[in-house]
This record gives sequence, C-alpha cells and structure tokens, in this order.
Amino acid sequence: MTVRNIVILTGAGVSAESGVATFRGPGGLWEGHRVEDVCTPEALAHDPELVHRFYDERREKLAGVMPNAAHLALARLDREWSGGLLLVTQNVDDLHERAGSTRLLHMHGELKSALCAACGVRAAWEDSLPPETECPNCGTPALRPDIVFFGEMPYQMERIERALGEADLFVSIGTSGAVYPAAGFVQTARYHGAATLELNLDPSAGSLWFGESRMGPAGALVPIWIEEVLAGA
Ligand code: APR
Repeated sequence: MTVRNIVILTGAGVSAESGVATFRGPGGLWEGHRVEDVCTPEALAHDPELVHRFYDERREKLAGVMPNAAHLALARLDREWSGGLLLVTQNVDDLHERAGSTRLLHMHGELKSALCAACGVRAAWEDSLPPETECPNCGTPALRPDIVFFGEMPYQMERIERALGEADLFVSIGTSGAVYPAAGFVQTARYHGAATLELNLDPSAGSLWFGESRMGPAGALVPIWIEEVLAGA
C-alpha cells in the first residue's frame, strides 16, 4: 500500500530516555504520587496547593531534559515527509517541539500552558503557577495547570478523528494503551483501512490490534522506522 497520510501517537515512553518519568512505572506511582491525587478535577478542588506544586515541579524539570533520538527522528520526518502527517502526543512536556516537530498537537495539555477555569483562555506559561493566579484575559484568580485531567475531554478530538479517518498508516510509540480515547485510536485507524504499527518497550494493552509490533527502546526503534518510511520501504 502506498503511504501518504501518517498519524503518530506518542506517550510517556518516547520521553523516558530523556529522563522524564513515565506514568505507570514500577510501583504504579508517578513521581511518588498516585495519579488520582494529582490528575483529577477532584484533586484540584480538594488540594490545589499540592496539584499546582506538582505541575510546577514538572515544568521546572523541563529545563534539565533534552529531546532524545526518537524526538529528533520524528522531527526529521516532519521536515522531510511531503504527505500528510499529524503527531498526536499524550505528553505534556515540550520535547517534540524542542526537537523541531511542527505538525503536532498535545491532546492532554501542556506544562508550559495555563488554563483559566473561568473564561477558558489558554496562556503560554513558563514560571510557577500558584493557585488563584489571575487570568491575563479576564482577571479572575482562576488559572490552573493546562493539563487534561481524568474525566475531562482531551483537546482537538475532532481534528484527531478526521486525521485517523484519512490515515494510511497509524503508528503508536511509547504508550501503555491504558487511557482512552487515545488507546482506541488504533481501532479507529484500522476501521478506516490504515496499516498499524506499534513501537514500545513492552507489549501495550492494545498490542493485539496492531498489524505489526516492534519491541525495544524508542530511541533505537524510531530512527530505524523513520529511515524506512523516508526510503519508501
Ligand atoms: N521506549 C519505548 N517505550 C517505552 C520506553 C522507552 N524507552 N520506556 C517505557 N516505555 C513504554 C512502557 O513500556 C509503557 O508501555 O512506554 C509506556 C508508558 O506508559 P504510561 O506510563 O502508561 O504512559 P502513557 O501511555 O503515555 O500514559 C497515558 O495516562 O496518566 C495519563 O494523561 C496521562 O498522558 C498520560 C496517559
């Protein structure tokens, strides 16, 4: 099959070799916290200090990490692939854009963004974000981390669904396949006739849905795969 339109989904595994912690690592804790204590609307309502501080720490840590070979290879694909391409990341770090990817969207939000709970504006944010920071747009002291919590709707689902409907190839990289709707993208892509490939350290929850699975670290597997795609293999 001739490949023209590619959709790629990335998860925490693509940033693991840069030193960014995955969510479902050993012990099931994310940087020492249960995901539900820092990643739900209820957690934000009950302990805003903890939740804001948690994301402040993650944002601060971005300065100390660098894109790895997988991010760089994906940015090369973005530059050199003349067909359709959409990189959908579940990650809230900025390593894809720092590597140079532009045809990219963050479906689960971004650490370097703040969201106003009052007016809904999203504002670029570099510094710490204490609770009750005033919104630059409406002035309400209601800025929160721009992170899609469990139970909230991911960003740009219509655009993602459209791209999946047009994709000839869907590739999932470094995600456990534990969280919907992202975990269901492989089935949508297959339904519309796309070939499907998984690149992951271990088989994910949805491995059986993929036409092909390659197991190993993203920093090794992704550059090889991208070389193949660009060579028309
Ligand atoms: N290379 C490739 N894959 C790796 C690597 C690596 N170097 N290291 C770990 N992995 C794989 C793991 O085997 C695992 O399957 O990456 C996956 C990471 O899974 P999770 O920690 O569950 O991360 P992710 O799938 O991105 O989580 C999805 O869950 O909590 C929410 O919103 C959060 O976006 C996140 C979503």
